[in-house]
Amino acid sequence: MDFPLNGRSFLRELDFTNDEWASYLDLAAHLKAANKAGTEKQYLRGRRIALIFEKMSTRTRCAFEVAAFDQGAHTTYLDPSSSHVGYKESVADTARVLGRMFDGIQFRGNYQTTVEQLDEWAGVPVFNGLTDLWHPTQMLADALTMKEHSTKPLSETSFAYVGDARFNMGRSLLVSGAMLGMDVRIVAPKSLQPPADVVEVAQDRAAESGARVTVTDELDAVEGADFLHTDMWVSMGESADAWDERVALLRPYRVDEALMDRAGADVKFMHCLPAVHDSTTEIGKQVLDKYGLEGCEVSGDVFDGPRSVVFDQAENRMHTIKAVMVASLGRDA
Ligand code: CP
Ligand code: NVA
Repeated sequence: MDFPLNGRSFLRELDFTNDEWASYLDLAAHLKAANKAGTEKQYLRGRRIALIFEKMSTRTRCAFEVAAFDQGAHTTYLDPSSSHVGYKESVADTARVLGRMFDGIQFRGNYQTTVEQLDEWAGVPVFNGLTDLWHPTQMLADALTMKEHSTKPLSETSFAYVGDARFNMGRSLLVSGAMLGMDVRIVAPKSLQPPADVVEVAQDRAAESGARVTVTDELDAVEGADFLHTDMWVSMGESADAWDERVALLRPYRVDEALMDRAGADVKFMHCLPAVHDSTTEIGKQVLDKYGLEGCEVSGDVFDGPRSVVFDQAENRMHTIKAVMVASLGRDA
C-alpha cells in the first residue's frame, strides 16, 4: 500500500488539493470494505496518538479510539478538564511535550488558531477534530455517505445545507463540496451565511473541480437536491443567549417533511449529530418550553423517517477517521 499523504497534518480541507481530498474517500472506502470483510490490515501497529478534547464529543472521540484500536494503535484521551493545556501550560509547551511521546495528536477545541499552533510546535502530525471554523473529519464521513447513497458520481450529486452556515459545518460543507465537484447549495439567512473570503475560495476550488456553488437565503434552492443537511442552531461554545436570535432566524429553515418534499421525493436527510429532534433531552425540553418547538433544526418524523441516513453517516465517522490516521501515520503491514 502507498501512503502519499504520510506525515501530513489534517487541519482543514483547504490544506489539500482537490485530488488529495478525494483520495481520502477512496482510502476510507477501502478500509471500510476490509473492516466489514474481516480482512483489515493493521497499518498503525505501535503508533501512539493523543486525543485532546476541549469540547464534548461522542462520535469523534469514539471514532478515533475504535479506528486506532482496529489498526493496532494506542490512544490517550485528555478530556476538557484533566490536562494543563491552555490553563497552566501554553499550547506551544503542551505540543512540544506531546510531540516527544506521541506519533500524532488529535485536537478538538474552540479555536482553529489553537490547532494550528499545536501543529506548528508538535513536530508530529496534528488532526483537527472540530474547531470554530472547520470540521474536516466530518466532511469525509459526509462525502462518503453521499457517495454510498447516491446512484450518481459525486460530481453529479447535489446537496443543500440549511441552517447556521457561518460556523464550522456550513463553511466546511461549502468548501468540501466545492473541492469534490458537487452541486453545493448553502441556504441560510443573510446574517448566518459564510463570510465572503470562504465563498470566494470555494468558488476558486469549484472552478478547478467543476462544482457549482450557490449561497442564498431562498429556500427554493433546496429543490432537486439529492441530500439535505442541517446542524444544531447553537453550536458548542456559543452563549446560551444565542438561542433567542437563532430560533427567530432559523425557524423557517427547520427541516420538516414539507421542506424534504420541496427538495424531492428521493432526497435523503443528513445531520452531523447530535441533533435536537424531540424534547427528550435537556436542550430539547428547553426549546419546547421556551419556543413551543418539538425538536429544533429537524422534526422527529424526518429524523427517524425512511429518508434519514444519519446513522450511516455517524458510522462513517469511524471509517473516514481511520483513513485520516492511516494516510498520515500508516506503514506497510
Ligand atoms: N458530529 C460530531 O462531531 O459528533 P461529536 O460531537 O459527538 O463528536
Ligand atoms: N456546529 C456544531 C457541530 C457539532 C458536531 C458544533 O460546533 O457544536
